[in-house]
This record gives sequence, structure tokens and C-alpha cells, in this order.
Amino acid sequence: MKFFVDSADLSEVREAVSWGLADGVTTNPSLLAKTGRPYAEVLREICAAIDGPVSAEVVATEAAAMCEEGQKLAQIHPNVVVKCPLTIDGLKATKALSARGIRVNVTLVFSPLQGLAAAKCGATYVSPFVGRLDDLGHDGFAMVEQLVRILRNYAYPSQVLVASLRSPNHVLRAAETGAQVATVPFNVMRQMLEHPLTAIGLERFLADWHKTKQKI
Ligand code: G3P
Repeated sequence: MKFFVDSADLSEVREAVSWGLADGVTTNPSLLAKTGRPYAEVLREICAAIDGPVSAEVVATEAAAMCEEGQKLAQIHPNVVVKCPLTIDGLKATKALSARGIRVNVTLVFSPLQGLAAAKCGATYVSPFVGRLDDLGHDGFAMVEQLVRILRNYAYPSQVLVASLRSPNHVLRAAETGAQVATVPFNVMRQMLEHPLTAIGLERFLADWHKTKQKI
């Protein structure tokens, strides 16, 4: 499974890269706005920090304008993947951009049929949002399982990129669906690596070792 860092914060991206776990980055307009910095500058720095796909989202809502913005974003760096929302215009833009060889991550996907439509339009990645479905009491992962199965049924090359993950359990469930990618907030990436028994066990090993007065 690939892990993307769901963040536009350079320090988080660099730290996750240093752990050897980050295979890419996803941003969105809210994450970029949070930086308070020019989006192109942030994207260039992220692309310099990681050798992997970096998703950057268009903000236009009409297909032609989405395509213009998508081409502009793609020119920032070869690793930039253009994010388009799953609207009718977003699908039109996805088809046009992917026909030009520009990779598209179709985002804000909340149903299997939306995901199938994105794959049919040539999406490189399809991003089902599970946390926001769970917030409404729906089973986001049941939807992801259906989407993974449907894309596998017809051998679509589109990769399922599970997004809106809020906990280590979400990452676990994403991995169990067979989705190719999980985009993980930095705090969740740290949480999923830490376990109290690991800390307790290490403390005990070191205490016993120190009693030997030896050095390695
Ligand atoms: O970046 C896309 C997605 O991961 C956003 O997650 O927590 O805002 O629903 P969230």
C-alpha cells in the first residue's frame, strides 16, 4: 500500500519523508490556504521535498477553466497530479486533461458509481472520502470495498486513493479493502506507529542492558 501525506505543511512532509513512509502528498484548497503562502511556492517546495506524486486541486468549477488551471498546476513540476472534484464539469476536465497526458486525482468521491465514472474518464487516482461519510453515520469503508471490487472487475488502471482518514483504524481498514493508496494526515501517521507496549518493552530492554555496564 502507498502512503501519501495529506498535508501542505512542509515540516510535516519533510518529517514523513525522513521516516521512509511517504510515497507522495495530497493537498487541497483548505490545506493550501492554511499555509498562508503563495500556492505555487508551497507546491514547488513540496515537490522538491518528495520524489512522488503531489496532488494539487483546481478551484474553477467550469470544465474549460478547470482545464486551464490544471495545465497551469501541471507546469509547476512533473510530479504534480491535478485534483478535480467529482462534478460533471470535473469529469469533463478529467477526460480532457488525461487525454493530454496530465494525471488527474478525482476527489470528493462519496459513492461507488461516482468512482466508476471517474475511472471511465481516465482518472489516475480516485479519492473516496471515508471520514466525511462516517461523520454522517454512513459506512465509508463499505463504499470503498465496492469501488475497489468494481474497478478490479473491469481492470481499470485507476488507483483507489482512500482519503479523509481520521485515525489509525481508518488506515487499517483502508489497507484491508485492497485500495492502492491511503492519504494520511501527519498526526495519524505518527499515531499509527506508536504503541505503549513498544515503549514499555524498550524501556525494560534498556534497563536490563544498562545493568551489564557493557557498550556495543
Ligand atoms: O485532502 C483530502 C481529504 O483527505 C480531506 O480530509 O479530513 O478534510 O475530510 P478531511
